[in-house]
Amino acid sequence: MTYETILVERADDVTTITLNRPQAKNAMNPQMHFDMCRALAEVEADDSRVLVITGAGDSFCAGMDIKEYFYDPEGQPGGRTAARKAAFEWMFGRLRILPKPTIAAVNGWCFGGAFAWLAVCDFAIASETAKFGLSEVNWGIIPAGGVTKLVSQLLAPRDALHLIMTGEPIGARRAAEIRLINDVVPSEQLPRATLGLADELKKKNPTVLAYCKEVFRVDQTLTLEEALAFESAKWAELDVVSKKTWHQGALQFKQDRSYRPGLESYDWKK
Ligand code: COA
Repeated sequence: MTYETILVERADDVTTITLNRPQAKNAMNPQMHFDMCRALAEVEADDSRVLVITGAGDSFCAGMDIKEYFYDPEGQPGGRTAARKAAFEWMFGRLRILPKPTIAAVNGWCFGGAFAWLAVCDFAIASETAKFGLSEVNWGIIPAGGVTKLVSQLLAPRDALHLIMTGEPIGARRAAEIRLINDVVPSEQLPRATLGLADELKKKNPTVLAYCKEVFRVDQTLTLEEALAFESAKWAELDVVSKKTWHQGALQFKQDRSYRPGLESYDWKK
C-alpha cells in the first residue's frame, strides 16, 4: 500500500516506516496520523518480525504540525478531534501494544509529540547528531497527548521536569545518559546498529517475545500481587499457544547440549 506522508518498506522480515515530510521536518499533520493508523494495522497483520520507525532527511519527527494539526483546525467544525483520535489510535492502540518488537531509529530532530511514540517504542537508538526537546513550554502549551505521563514513567523526575519546564533541547549522548534512548551511534552507523538489534530480536521465538512485551506493558499498571497472578496466567496461556516450546529449550540444553541459554537462544523452529 502507498501513503501520502510515510514510506513503508519491507526487507528481511523487518518493516521500516519512514515519516516522509522532510520539508516540514516530519512534523505530524492530520494526514500522517491517518496514514500511520492504516500502516500499523497492516504491520500488525503481516508476518514481518520487527518494526523500525525513522524519519526522512535530517529530522526524525518535529512533533505535531503546529499549523496543520494545532492552528488551522481552531474554530472548524470537529476541530482536531478526528486527527487526535487517529494519533491516539496509532500510538497507543497499535504501536504501544504491537505484538512484535519496535525500534525507533532517531536520525535527527525529535520534539514534542514525537516523545509520545518514542516512549512507547520498545527500543530507541539515536544518531549522535540527534536532538531531543520538549519544546511545548517554548510556545505556550503543555506536553499533552500522553507525553508528560510517558516521560514521567520513562525518566527520573528531575530529568523529566527539566525537559518539560525548560524546553531546553538535549543531545543524543545526554538522552542516552538519562535513558530516554538505549544507545547512541555515529550517524553513518545508525542503519547498521538498528538492523543489528533487529537481527538479535529475530533469533528469539516471536510468540514468546510478544508475550514478554504484553506482560511488561500490563504489569506497569498492576500491584505486585496482581502482577504475580497475571504473569502466571500469561505463562499458562503461552504454554498452550506455543505447545510448551520451553521443553525444546530445556532438552536442547540438557540433552543435546547444543546451546547454553545464558549465552544464546535455543532453536525454536525445531
Ligand atoms: N510544525 C509545522 N511546521 C514545522 C514544524 C512543526 N512542528 N517543525 C518544522 N516545521 C517546518 C518549518 O516551519 C519550516 O517550514 P517552511 O520551510 O515552510 O518555513 C520547515 O519545517 C523547516 O523548518 P526550519 O525551522 O526552517 O528548520 P531548522 O532546521 O532551522 O529547525 C527545528 C528545525 C525542528 C529546530 C524547527 O523547525 C522547530 O523548532 N520546529 C518546531 C519543533 C517543535 O516545537 N515541535 C513541537 C510541536 S508540539
